[in-house]
Amino acid sequence: MNAPSPERILLSPPHMSGGERELLLDAFDSNWIAPLGPHVDALEREVCERVGTEAAVALATGTAALHLALLTHGVGPGDEVLCSTLTFAATANAIRYCGAKPVFVDSDLASWNMDPDLLEAELKRMAAAGARPAAVLTVDAFGQCADYERIEPLCERFATPLIVDAAESLGATCGDRHAGTQGRCGVYSLNGNKIITASGGGVLVTSDPGLAERIRHLATQAKLPAPHYEHEEIGFNYRMSNLLAAVARGQLAVLDERVAARRANFDSYRRALSDLPGVSFMPEAPYGASTRWLTCMQIDPAAAGVDQTAVRETLARQSIESRPLWKPMHLQPVHQDCRRVGGRVSQTLFETGLCLPSGSALTDRQLDRVAKAVRDAFSLAGHRAA
Ligand SMILES: Cc1ncc(COP(=O)(O)O)c(C=O)c1O
Repeated sequence: MNAPSPERILLSPPHMSGGERELLLDAFDSNWIAPLGPHVDALEREVCERVGTEAAVALATGTAALHLALLTHGVGPGDEVLCSTLTFAATANAIRYCGAKPVFVDSDLASWNMDPDLLEAELKRMAAAGARPAAVLTVDAFGQCADYERIEPLCERFATPLIVDAAESLGATCGDRHAGTQGRCGVYSLNGNKIITASGGGVLVTSDPGLAERIRHLATQAKLPAPHYEHEEIGFNYRMSNLLAAVARGQLAVLDERVAARRANFDSYRRALSDLPGVSFMPEAPYGASTRWLTCMQIDPAAAGVDQTAVRETLARQSIESRPLWKPMHLQPVHQDCRRVGGRVSQTLFETGLCLPSGSALTDRQLDRVAKAVRDAFSLAGHRAA
């Protein structure tokens, strides 16, 4: 008889606190079942308070928020946008929706995010050639901010708008500022795998209330205030549902606990696995605090005798979900017509990196099970080599 399969451990599942249910029922019972309503307004206020910014706009997805952020900064056909290459497809897709082309900038080793030296070199090179990117779109990957102490002044110096894709990093900090609050505007995602979720959703934050108003207008089909429907420009149906905003509010109330839990996961994995040969963990850059949204480890196959694929497959056989890091955008077939800046840092991270289960509801027993499965992969490789 087969042994019962072990309980499945997912990479980053939703983690409700209980409070969301009451708020969702309130939205439902009030009949504000629409892409506007009191929970949308309240969520926008609460996000502003949480991250210390002037204005927030709740939108259908993080991708929609990125699209409108780029459009409202004039990004259009023929433009280039300097963009982090180590990211999820949505970042580059938003640039493509505008008809512009991403120029993919490699990562640095300190943060795994856009390398400020490469950004500076490319901004200088373009300026010398009489060119300027329409925007810089940085990504705060895996819960950690890029180096804004350097990137923000660079964008100012070269008069280029900075847009921050903080989809994965709500709750992180850079110096004394929250992720997403640098540059002209920042974007968070509330997609199902994020540190807090409403099943889907995005929030754009900015210190410019006029920009927020403009984005709200475009996201509501660009309807002009008239009793009939009057439109002077093309709009989008990009606002967040009041039902989902209610869930998001319940989640935002427990963000600090979620950050603490994800950081504790990271510490637990590091304690359990650091002694393995060839294993290292994503660094935390000295200028900020990461949420450790996903615990990312690197496995150097030469030292470990095993690679990330073998570890991932061993985990999968034990009903444990893990994932490679993002495949850099400059290696994606769809973006082969785009320029790239830099070397092989993000490519090496992709080839050697693995994201371990990182949900904020993981129990000690589950964390031990994952760590033991990783060790199993190393011992299996040892047996093969022997
Ligand atoms: C870096 C990054 N940017 C953008 C997005 C898009 O967000 P959404 O799924 O809310 O559209 C995601 C995640 O989904 C992401 O990880």
